[in-house]
Amino acid sequence: MFDYAGKTVFVAGGTSGINLGIAEAFAEAGANVFVFSRRPEKVEAAVAKLQNLGAKAEGAIADVRDVDAVTAAFARAAETFGEIDVLVSGAAGNFPARANDLSSNGFRAVMEIDLLGTHHVMTAAYQHLRKPGASIVNISAPQAVVAMTGQVHVCAAKAGVDMITKTLALEWGEEGIRINSVIPGPIDGTEGMSRLAPTPEAMEEVRKSVPMKRVGIPRDVANLCMYLGSDFASYLTGAVIPVDGGWALNMPGTALDPILDHIAASRRAKG
Ligand code: COA
Ligand code: NAP
Repeated sequence: MFDYAGKTVFVAGGTSGINLGIAEAFAEAGANVFVFSRRPEKVEAAVAKLQNLGAKAEGAIADVRDVDAVTAAFARAAETFGEIDVLVSGAAGNFPARANDLSSNGFRAVMEIDLLGTHHVMTAAYQHLRKPGASIVNISAPQAVVAMTGQVHVCAAKAGVDMITKTLALEWGEEGIRINSVIPGPIDGTEGMSRLAPTPEAMEEVRKSVPMKRVGIPRDVANLCMYLGSDFASYLTGAVIPVDGGWALNMPGTALDPILDHIAASRRAKG
């Protein structure tokens, strides 16, 4: 078991799915936890859930695309809990769309949430990070390393996130700040998977494509984040680490073709 008593953990986009699962794991390990996202009702529910686990938890409403709102969220966290020991950055958006069906604004939306948003979170956090000793975990995706049809926006954005990880490992390393990326595989019951594999049959195909023949759960990702946040990982920085049952080793780049064909057919039927 990891012991995070007295430590402060900040989870950007930490109000649902994998990121909330990560926040919960740190809360159970004794950390004070701060989360933010766009929707007030999600922030309120996540904070209540974390407090019910016995943690000191607070939250803020902010869109990662708005640098002033992100800066204000970090200021509020600092006032509440002091310096940040572990920062997890995982706000993201995704939908399946082939490049020819993706407007400029659609591409921009995902680039601004995933990539520009990560830059906002990193730079707004910097002054509040414990130095030396802070650990940052960026939540990336398999699309950062394996090209996938219908995912040009996500592939481009998450590959960029991993380069932010590597570049800041260089820039901030001598101050004793470590930064790594985690690449979750397909995680059961999440918004992300409901968009890419929306039926039980599609999800079963995904399960079969994982070398370990199971899909993941948020705690699989959280366990790696807790390791990366701890002193056990004190010489580990600039790494991009999959936690995916081996999925990205053989994930077919055309896995989304059936769902993309279905989307195209419904669009044609609607005229
Ligand atoms: N196919 C093609 N284009 C799409 C699309 C789809 N399924 N969904 C949205 N878009 C386009 C919109 O049409 C719009 O472009 P347009 O102005 O040219 O029409 C653009 O994307 C922005 O859409 P909008 O709804 O205004 O963006 P938003 O900022 O409110 O929401 C999203 C961002 C689209 C990423 C939204 O899905 C979201 O908020 N996602 C967060 C949750 C999530 O994705 N979780 C999984 C994480 S992996
Ligand atoms: P999710 O539940 O939709 O989580 C996304 C979180 O980010 C939510 O808390 C959401 O809350 C917040 N968010 C979205 N847009 C935001 C914005 N503009 N500003 C601030 N917060 C924003 O999805 P998930 O599937 O668990 O994915 C979580 C992370 O894991 C993402 O980084 C994703 O790319 C990655 N990932 C997921 C899978 C998977 O199997 N699901 C696999 C690989 C990687 P609000 O709606 O309130 O803003």
